[in-house]
Amino acid sequence: MMHLAFLVLLCLPVCSAYPLSGAAKQEDSNRDLAQQYLENYYNLKTDVKQFRRKENNLIVKKIRRMQKFLGLAATGKLDSDTLEVMRKPRCGVPDVGHFTTFPGIPKWRKTHLTYRIVNYTQDLPRDAVDSAVEKAVKVWEEVTPLTFSRLYEREADIMISFAVKEHGDFYPFDGSGHSLAHAYPPGPGLYGDIHFDDDEKWTEDASGTNLFLVAAHELGHSLGLFHSANTEALMYPLYNSFTELVHFRLSQDDVNGIQSLYGPPSASTEEPLVPTISVPSGSGMPAKCDPALSFDAISTLRGEYLFFKDRYFWRRSHWSSEPEFHLISAFWPSLPSYLDAAYEVNSRDTVFIFKGNEFWAIRGNEVQAGYPRGIHTLGFPPTIRKIDAAVSDKEKKKTYFFVEDKYWRFDENSQSMEQGFPRLIADDFPGVEPKVDAVLQAFGFFYFFSGSSQFEFDPNARMVTHILKSNSWLHC
Ligand SMILES: *[C@@H]1O[C@H](CO)[C@@H](O)[C@H](O)[C@H]1NC(C)=O
Ligand SMILES: [Zn+2]
Ligand SMILES: [Zn+2]
Repeated sequence: MMHLAFLVLLCLPVCSAYPLSGAAKQEDSNRDLAQQYLENYYNLKTDVKQFRRKENNLIVKKIRRMQKFLGLAATGKLDSDTLEVMRKPRCGVPDVGHFTTFPGIPKWRKTHLTYRIVNYTQDLPRDAVDSAVEKAVKVWEEVTPLTFSRLYEREADIMISFAVKEHGDFYPFDGSGHSLAHAYPPGPGLYGDIHFDDDEKWTEDASGTNLFLVAAHELGHSLGLFHSANTEALMYPLYNSFTELVHFRLSQDDVNGIQSLYGPPSASTEEPLVPTISVPSGSGMPAKCDPALSFDAISTLRGEYLFFKDRYFWRRSHWSSEPEFHLISAFWPSLPSYLDAAYEVNSRDTVFIFKGNEFWAIRGNEVQAGYPRGIHTLGFPPTIRKIDAAVSDKEKKKTYFFVEDKYWRFDENSQSMEQGFPRLIADDFPGVEPKVDAVLQAFGFFYFFSGSSQFEFDPNARMVTHILKSNSWLHC
């Protein structure tokens, strides 16, 4: 240890004694630019860590992918064309990953949508912002059965705001240039919303960043469209200031895209369909640092932790400090929300999800065929209608099911419920208070979640060693 520290100390002054030449510096800054770009828009960081590939090979692969997507020669090298494109202002939504990696691309399940302009930029008069947004809305209205109306208060489907830097989601803006705006795909809450980077100079013409063009592009995301590799398309990820603004028209590629989701405009002049399925409102999104926060279910998944609440879940990996927040349906469209229990069986690379008297098996982001199955197939008596929580002990290959003040134990080797159960939770897990919402096994402990409290239970000492807030796992 000693000599290692010594070497590092020795090296630093030696290395920095030789300043980089101008060309080497330029190369360094190009590499930094590329690294940042691929991390932002091509999932570089996550992929390096998830797959532990040789980083250099992955970067070449990513560069090639980016070049292909953006219509450049796919050399895998940081040539001047590639660097030029990387310096161009663009939409902040990634070209791959995040929205596009999940199956079941969401769309609105109603044809009448609402939008609200939550606040304004100082760059333009308010009515210029209003009319840019209105014009952007018309672009999509013309080619679909969708209709829009503007709200001045309350939660609209599409909430439009201007913000700078960190602004309450996981995608802080980056000052002037680069990322201009981003938008979330259809869904409740944050989903469907559009954020403009107010560090841009927003203009009505092409002298700065044209608000109408960017709004129309972001609205495409709000409606469920992703980036197109077609350079003519509005949904191409780079901002194209040379677009003819006066006679703006969607490309055929954009029209094909949006009509694949919603179809063409209705032929008749009749009023469009009123919403039949609307997203339930009122409940709002759970806040991770709410001291009263409780969880519906918690599971591991391939080394990450999933915390389920209502229609959402937080996903915490070892390498990212901030948990990600997602709709359950964005990962697993056929799963219900408001879950009862979840656990992972590592040896089968499967997470089991429980709601009511049914359960599902998922692997990664795929729900397995043949599910849901009835919970009674696991050996529960017919009087059991639902379970509260479950956890599978990795080493012992036993799964515990908690129901009110009792628990059952299932043997993963023999795939059968063990004899002698149910037993009382109070007898075998003294100090844990039923009813249990969720259980997690980590660091050799069981963490029992009950309301906003969490009991750390040491199975060897058979005692509760700590009582914590439930949301202590979410960096609160
Ligand atoms: C506008 O609203 C958004 C979302 O509520 C917020 O993050 C942002 O700071 C607001 N911007 C201004 C200029 O008030
Ligand atoms: Zn975009
Ligand atoms: Zn944002």
